[in-house]
Amino acid sequence: MADESLRDLLRSLPVFGDDVPEFDPEAAPADPLELLVEWLRRAIEAGVSQPHAMVLATADASGHPSARTLLLKDVTTSTADEPGAVWFASLSDSPKGRDLEANPRAALLLYWREQGRQVRISGSVFHGDRDVSERDFLARHPAARATVLAGRQSEPMPSGDELEREMASAREFVAVNPNFVPDTWRSYLVQPHSVEFWQSAPRREQRRLLYSATENGGWHRDMLWP
Ligand SMILES: Cc1cc2nc3c(=O)[nH]c(=O)nc-3n(C[C@H](O)[C@H](O)[C@H](O)COP(=O)(O)O)c2cc1C
Repeated sequence: MADESLRDLLRSLPVFGDDVPEFDPEAAPADPLELLVEWLRRAIEAGVSQPHAMVLATADASGHPSARTLLLKDVTTSTADEPGAVWFASLSDSPKGRDLEANPRAALLLYWREQGRQVRISGSVFHGDRDVSERDFLARHPAARATVLAGRQSEPMPSGDELEREMASAREFVAVNPNFVPDTWRSYLVQPHSVEFWQSAPRREQRRLLYSATENGGWHRDMLWP
């Protein structure tokens, strides 16, 4: 049964204030990942909470979708040899890792509520080089590394003594093997096919700028209706 009071409560909540950054799509750079880096730096400078938290959406071989939050690890802009990419890290034997093996395409979403900004990215997913995965894993806190080594992400977890035993043995393993990196720890990169920037504005004049990849390696730009 619909709860009208919850509906009214939700409707009464404010969304965006007027104190949001300006966005002039005419002045936007030709490469959307340059604009992403600009927005990211601006979010960090403005003290946005967890500006590097992003949602990764995947789909399995039968098209079943799922989404989860991950940390953004890097944004590389395009060079003469390499297209630009957006990077994250996770386990290849996790549900998302299995989705990406079956269907190496993904959508990413960054949302900076304090600035009324959203960035949507969709593209093809590749494995990063092994040394990037290794650096990423070794930069993690030893306790986080032990958790990865003790368990299998998203599988049911034991409790009580069994959990304590497995964690203690993983912590000891990390202490004795400080440079060990499991094969399943992967850096992944998304090479975008499209990137859309959304900016709230006073008087609800939201701006949406969509970049779509062209066949010759460039970008086509469109303003979209909000
Ligand atoms: C803010 C935040 C950051 C996270 N960062 C990561 C990350 O970088 N890598 C990761 O594997 N999981 C990360 N997680 C956990 C994932 O959201 C998710 O629970 C886990 O990866 C299992 O996903 P899966 O079952 O879809 O494979 C993060 C969760 C939150 C809330």
